[in-house]
Amino acid sequence: MAYQKECLLRAGKKEPVILGIESSCDETAAAIIRGRELLSNVVLSSATEQAKYGGVVPEIASRAHTDAIDEAVLSAIEQAKIQKSEIDAVAVTYGAGLAGALLVGLSFAKAFAFSLNVPLIAVNHIRGHMAAAYLADKTLEPPYITLLASGGHTAILYTKTYTEFEILGSTRDDAAGEAFDKAARVLSLPYPGGPNVEKLAREGKADIAFPKMFSGNGFDFSYSGLKTAVINYCHTKEQKGEPYSRADVAASFQCAACDVLCERAVEAAKQKNCDTIAAGGGVIANGYLREELTKRCEKEKIRLVLPEKKYCTDNAAMIAAEGLIQYSAGNFSPLSVNACAHIPLGKKGKQ
Ligand code: KG4
Ligand code: ZN
Repeated sequence: MAYQKECLLRAGKKEPVILGIESSCDETAAAIIRGRELLSNVVLSSATEQAKYGGVVPEIASRAHTDAIDEAVLSAIEQAKIQKSEIDAVAVTYGAGLAGALLVGLSFAKAFAFSLNVPLIAVNHIRGHMAAAYLADKTLEPPYITLLASGGHTAILYTKTYTEFEILGSTRDDAAGEAFDKAARVLSLPYPGGPNVEKLAREGKADIAFPKMFSGNGFDFSYSGLKTAVINYCHTKEQKGEPYSRADVAASFQCAACDVLCERAVEAAKQKNCDTIAAGGGVIANGYLREELTKRCEKEKIRLVLPEKKYCTDNAAMIAAEGLIQYSAGNFSPLSVNACAHIPLGKKGKQ
């Protein structure tokens, strides 16, 4: 009871200090923001260990989070040069992600919020990716178009207010990041797939005509056709004993996968009469995609909000940013909130 009373006292500040915690996959991350100003951002990753197994092993991730969470949070507080007592709320990813991994961050956050007598804010990881843009450009305000391209979701959204959005289009099968990871496997590249495809693509020419997904109406995507085309191309060459350039495959795949995202985002901005596109999600860290999107937005005189690469891949600054939105809307979570492995982005249309 005392906890809840104190929480209300902590609500309603204009520039609250929020601790963000993220542990949904293989990054143990903690960050502090004051209003939209980022004070610290700590990411401790178990990716090197996971790479030995070709992907994320959930049990290894959970153990790594257990080992790293104390250090991540304490470093974030220290680097932000604040006292624990200045924290007004704790925002934490409760899903989607690996259940065991999520539980480490969530349990820590509950205990921390309770001990400080401040509200807990359970954050949807993917909404965090979308909120990263608010830290990248402090003047960003809805309405605008969001281009979301991550490992689990690919969508074009009309962000109407801070808490309401409309899905204009989304992937009908694989997400963009998933396609990068599958292409990496076909090309025998190690985990993590996306950055390694990008690295190899730099040495190649994008001269293989892989299909561009969906040139038809609407803003939906499909990545499974592109994935099959890459597999077929490599296997046919191998069966015939013909040499081929893996770098050219990587570069051609990257173009096909990214161009459609840029085209659709710009089309959506025009259709919705929006002068701004904000991007988020791991795939937005891709250098080719960033250049292409920048060029197309400049040409169409659209303002582009592109978070730095380190705020596109998993981090806790974005969780704190989404926490700020929920804090401002007065949306706090009970300490009984549970981890959730799957959270749908929502159905097409208004949310
Ligand atoms: O947004 P994210 O954390 O996924 C979800 O939260 O669902 O991003 C992870 C995805 C992975 O599929 C990874 O391969 C991809 O983002 N990714 C990239 C790059 N960096 C990460 N894809 C292409 N190029 C990159 N540089
Ligand atoms: Zn993520």
